[in-house]
Amino acid sequence: MPYAKIIGSGGYLPPRVVSNDQLAADLATRNIETSDSWIVSRTGIQQRHIVDPGVTTSQLATKAAQAALEDAGISASQLDLIIVATSTPDFIFPSTACLVQANLGNQGAAAFDVQAVCSGFVYALTTAEAFIKAGRAKTALVIGAEVFSGILDWSDRGTCVLFGDGAGAMVLQASEEPGIIGAQLRADGSQKDVLCTAGNVSHGQVVGDPFLRMDGQAVFKLAVTSLTKSAQEVCDEAGVSLQDIDWMVPHQANIRIINFLGRKLGLDTEKVVVTVDQHANTSAASVPLAFDVARRDGRIKSGDLVMLQGVGGGFTWGSVLVRM
Ligand code: UT7
Repeated sequence: MPYAKIIGSGGYLPPRVVSNDQLAADLATRNIETSDSWIVSRTGIQQRHIVDPGVTTSQLATKAAQAALEDAGISASQLDLIIVATSTPDFIFPSTACLVQANLGNQGAAAFDVQAVCSGFVYALTTAEAFIKAGRAKTALVIGAEVFSGILDWSDRGTCVLFGDGAGAMVLQASEEPGIIGAQLRADGSQKDVLCTAGNVSHGQVVGDPFLRMDGQAVFKLAVTSLTKSAQEVCDEAGVSLQDIDWMVPHQANIRIINFLGRKLGLDTEKVVVTVDQHANTSAASVPLAFDVARRDGRIKSGDLVMLQGVGGGFTWGSVLVRM
């Protein structure tokens, strides 16, 4: 059975950067109190990228995809599978993946979206790997892309300071060389209420609540417990030790979660890729964006063992272990 090998990656962040101070000043005009010091000390976030009005998830996804295709040195026509992980699709349908396919000029690839919120990218990556292993696809484009700014309640300081917009992508190809060597996806739907956007459109009207709601402390505890267990289990199944990991690329939600996870797993802090300070939480885009940053700056190299981890609403979580 072939491996799914990562042959390219790319990322795209909208150009508008909003610092904590800028955000605090903006919220203050609406009598909502926050500060750079609160945001940095509780989350590690210093800034986020936010789209201009009218910019959509498929536009960000297309730019990240083009960067990944260029990096891989292949053309869009060679793709036979396109998966987009997003919770902020342009439309109810068609899928964001089909919109990206049209933008790239690909014809004939299977294209669909995966919805697992901040775990979306590891869910999509594991799905693409399964297609490649089963011989159902040879060259896959996997994207995590979000415009979370559109589902934030900008009067809720407990959530609106945490998120940003962006997209990250990878190109996978069937190969005799490893590749993805381990993966685990998990969910616990009984925790559906701790992080949700429980609204919909029906009969031409928004039904329910169209904004993101979160029980931050519950999510924090679930994230740390689930990711620690998942990392250990995936290493055990793949027959490697946690100490063999060269780079950990966890979901970028909160530096305190990332540091806690690193300590529990006994990983050196230098082995953990952190972008939450610059990108904030970009949900399904956070893992491929962080991966792309560390690959392009030369940290992640050929032959390295890399663990990617996602966690988020659903409640969902998962880990993917990759030999570069
Ligand atoms: O991608 C999905 C995964 N999401 C996550 O992983 C998020 C996980 N959770 C977290 O990251 C943290 O729980 C938060 C960053 C959301 C919150 O940190 P916390 O240390 O759990 O703070 P808290 O919710 O207990 O709030 C502490 C205080 C409260 O005031 P009182 O009740 O102590 O007076 C909040 O009202 O901080 C207040 N607060 C704020 N103050 C200034 C909440 N948000 C803000 C704010 N600025 N933006």
